Amino acid sequence: MRRVASDPSDTPLHLFVPVFRIDECLDEIRECLEKGWTGLGFKTAQFEEAWTRYTGLPHGHFVNSATAGLHLAVRLLKERLGWREGDEIISTPLSFVSTNHAILYEGLRPVFADVDEYLCLDPESVASRISGRTRAVIFVGLGGNTGRLEAVATLCRERGLTLILDAAHMTGTRLHGRHVGAEGAASVFSFHAVKNLPTADSGMICFADADLDAAVRHWTWLGIDKDTYTRTHSDRTYKWHYEVEHVGFKYHGNSIMAALALVALKYVDADNACRRQLAAWYDEGLAGAAGIETIPIAPGCESARHLYQVLVDCRDEVMVGLNQRGIFPGVHYQDNSRYRMYADQPPCPRARLASERVISLPMHLRLERDDVQRVCDGLRAVVT
Ligand SMILES: Cc1ncc(COP(=O)(O)O)c(C=O)c1O
Repeated sequence: MRRVASDPSDTPLHLFVPVFRIDECLDEIRECLEKGWTGLGFKTAQFEEAWTRYTGLPHGHFVNSATAGLHLAVRLLKERLGWREGDEIISTPLSFVSTNHAILYEGLRPVFADVDEYLCLDPESVASRISGRTRAVIFVGLGGNTGRLEAVATLCRERGLTLILDAAHMTGTRLHGRHVGAEGAASVFSFHAVKNLPTADSGMICFADADLDAAVRHWTWLGIDKDTYTRTHSDRTYKWHYEVEHVGFKYHGNSIMAALALVALKYVDADNACRRQLAAWYDEGLAGAAGIETIPIAPGCESARHLYQVLVDCRDEVMVGLNQRGIFPGVHYQDNSRYRMYADQPPCPRARLASERVISLPMHLRLERDDVQRVCDGLRAVVT
């Protein structure tokens, strides 16, 4: 997508710039406004259907964020499988805090394992952290990479652990040609504003089990057994009657977000192909650069390429140097055990080192080949 710029050399290059097909989005949103229905309803149902058709996953429930989805994945699996307060879930320190907060929301204990060269959970480290209280593993596909997801899934099967996939970065990621999300009991995708399928805030929770999918629809609507759209459009006489089965949350998605998502879904494969092209240009531009390590993509993975990450020494100085050149990358992520509330975790030296050295380079659909070259040249100049 072309940028309008007079002098490309001084255009700031930001980490993320979401792209919306504005006219198509407005048409979808207009339909909601004309119908007078912007909440949970016809458009969210339409998007859930489009999503399961696109991914091939058996179920998908549209929620207001991946954070909410992760919470409910933990909550419903805990209920179903009888996990108790203080039981443990193995997770990664190299993620957005939502991943680990979701465990704490339910009174469970996150136990961090270390990452591998893909910056995803290392199965050997996961195995070493399994205790008598371990119930599950949350695997994060960092930047869209599958890392050693299959080995972690096998380990979980062998050890009787539940696998939850934090697929916030993985819309469009395929492993051996199949869209990810069916590897464990639940997978959760993010459609936050800067993700590969951008809305403003929303996400998708995909349970493998049909009963959990049915149950989660009540959990996202305060425990009420029928949503307002279904009641309003039913031909029942007493439309105003409903049952409240248990306490629930207000976590459901709405039709305005679904309108944006429906448009973005049509383009996500083409957009991800553009991201992979940008990544290939980065690979080319950084090949052989001293002091700059790139992160490999796992074999068999067609990554959504949410991120293009490199590792450098003196990362903070390098970031400042890039900023002075009008380049504004990001950091994914700070080792969560650096945060006070997660400080009591076992050491994960690889994650700690990566978190001190990692940079996410600009990755969005307005970048052109010259922009990528500018970032590569800037990085080489600052690092040497
Ligand atoms: C790895 C990961 N998990 C979970 C989330 C939470 O997503 P959301 O913003 O949709 O709640 C994010 C968001 O940045 C993320 O990067």
